Amino acid sequence: MKLSKYLLPILLLIGLAFVLIACSDSSSEDETADQNGSGSGDEEEVTIVYARGVDTTPATEALIKAFEDKHPNINVKEQEMPADTGQSHDQYVTAFSSQSTEIDVFNADVIWPAEFAQANYALELDRFIEKDGINMEDYFPGTVQAGKFDGKQWAMPQYTDAGILYYRTDIVDEPPKTWDDLIEQANNLKGEEGTEFGYLMQAAQYEGLITNAIEFIASYGGEVVNENNEVVVDSPETVKALEKMKEVVGSDFVPQNILNFQEIETENAWIEGKSVFARNWPYLMSSSNDEERSAISGNVEMTTMPEGDAGSASALGGWMTMINRYSEHPEAAWEFVKFISGPEGQKISAVEGGRAPTIEALYDDPEIQQLNSLFGNPDFREVLQTAVPRPVTPIYPEISDIMQIEISKVLTGDQNPQQAATNMQTKMEAAMNE
Ligand code: GLC
Repeated sequence: MKLSKYLLPILLLIGLAFVLIACSDSSSEDETADQNGSGSGDEEEVTIVYARGVDTTPATEALIKAFEDKHPNINVKEQEMPADTGQSHDQYVTAFSSQSTEIDVFNADVIWPAEFAQANYALELDRFIEKDGINMEDYFPGTVQAGKFDGKQWAMPQYTDAGILYYRTDIVDEPPKTWDDLIEQANNLKGEEGTEFGYLMQAAQYEGLITNAIEFIASYGGEVVNENNEVVVDSPETVKALEKMKEVVGSDFVPQNILNFQEIETENAWIEGKSVFARNWPYLMSSSNDEERSAISGNVEMTTMPEGDAGSASALGGWMTMINRYSEHPEAAWEFVKFISGPEGQKISAVEGGRAPTIEALYDDPEIQQLNSLFGNPDFREVLQTAVPRPVTPIYPEISDIMQIEISKVLTGDQNPQQAATNMQTKMEAAMNE
């Protein structure tokens, strides 16, 4: 009894001391972010730089505006990086390896976090995640995993990508099930409704080629690196897959310059109404139905990628947000990361940019479902759950380079699929054992 008489004033005093310490702490920092994330007006203004690849949709602009409206003290300056993820990667490596402070927040391809964490380019996010009570279980597990390295979280999932097959509903009756069906329909239907091509894909020598190749390889039952981290790419399955890939790329239903095609070339030709089928990421549904840009609005549907002997396979892609380890504004940077990877930011990306959320519950949001036919489509959810990741390793850039070189040589006719499989096996084993 006696004790409790003194306990209350003591607790109050301790509480007051904490408040005072917390106040003096935050006033000594030049960061603006307060605990609940809304600027209080008398805090110093800060500008953070947000780097990301080319966005052909209005999503980035809308995201920045919504964030700045909520955080009057934090200005976000966008820095546009190349559309080609490999080129962006190299520019980030140049900047971060010289400890540049210029970029605060950046979008990272799902294949980068392991490498960037190991190279010490990024800030660990666990303390922020804990401080703000973010529940990582709200996200698709694979997307959280992609941002983990050494038991720590280095990147927050922003949106997820999986390869899908788009087709013209005004031309195609029954979408193709297998690669052979696709080849047959692309041949037969090319020319209808003013189309010039049967199929568009990404066959240039860059990262997107790897995602297309992984889809062929996995659909024939092949793998690049297995779950025990062993290189297993030299297999009859890979050889068969590369033969089919070469057949498609060498056909006369793809553009003559298909070996220069990345996503942007695919998107442009597709929305101009030039092709019957196209392989691309979810955002293409949005561009397809954008009446200002697209000639085929309302005439597009999606289905799963064509099957090989082992079924249909989509490559897992997607983008995460990371903070530069040398950012001078880590608190403000985190506020922005939290916003764009959180439910509000992801909804803006979905609605304005057709980007597939990594927060599972958003797929049940009626507004999201209504605005984009993809998000209510059960086939699409299935694709997201089963998409095939690329090898997860800090030396991924080397693995990718090896594949890019060897597979391109098959597509240009400079070597046969078996030679490519053998070379990839030998070179990857050497790189992994270094
Ligand atoms: C998409 C994917 C990314 C992939 C890239 C290849 O942006 O999200 O993961 O590496 O395409 O071009």
